[in-house]
Amino acid sequence: MNLSIRPVTADDVSAVEALWEEAGMTSYASSGDIAGEITGKLERDPDLFLLGEVDGTAVATIMGTWDGHRGRIKRLVVATTHRRSGLGADLTDELEKRFTERGITRLRLEVWADNAGGLAFWEERGYELQPDIRYFVRNLDDSNDPC
Ligand SMILES: CC(C)(COP(=O)(O)OP(=O)(O)OC[C@H]1O[C@@H](n2cnc3c(N)ncnc32)[C@H](O)[C@@H]1OP(=O)(O)O)[C@@H](O)C(=O)NCCC(=O)NCCS
Repeated sequence: MNLSIRPVTADDVSAVEALWEEAGMTSYASSGDIAGEITGKLERDPDLFLLGEVDGTAVATIMGTWDGHRGRIKRLVVATTHRRSGLGADLTDELEKRFTERGITRLRLEVWADNAGGLAFWEERGYELQPDIRYFVRNLDDSNDPC
């Protein structure tokens, strides 16, 4: 399988949205405005938002963010047709390389507790589960939108 990895561009918005939909990523409560999330990310650290393609078809994404102290990984998604072929690992390798080149070496991420595959993937890569941390969210505009 010939995987190529490059940053997401504005031309990829609908392909990324379709991929996330197919992969089940948009069913999570925190998904919210998907197209807005994709276009918003293109305005900030776009080189940390990566697309994996096989034969020109979008099959995987990963998104890195940076808060000035730690990097955060979001939206690692591989199309259901292409899983367990190393694509998730390849995209993560590339994002970790880009973080390292920026001097960002402390990473964190969230995985839903019922996502057995996601938990196994990150543990396999050496990411450490933090059972003593609870995760809080709040909308400052008092809306009910997912955070
Ligand atoms: C999690 C996900 C990104 C993994 O992508 P992938 O391309 O299939 O993963 P890889 O092929 O690179 O797997 C690398 C290793 O991780 C582990 N792994 C990956 N998926 C696994 C699963 N479902 N169950 C158990 N272990 C798994 C294995 O050790 C695997 O190596 P192996 O195939 O040689 O056994 C993919 O299943 C996915 O898109 N899931 C839906 C979205 C999601 O859960 N994202 C992660 C949370 S942020």
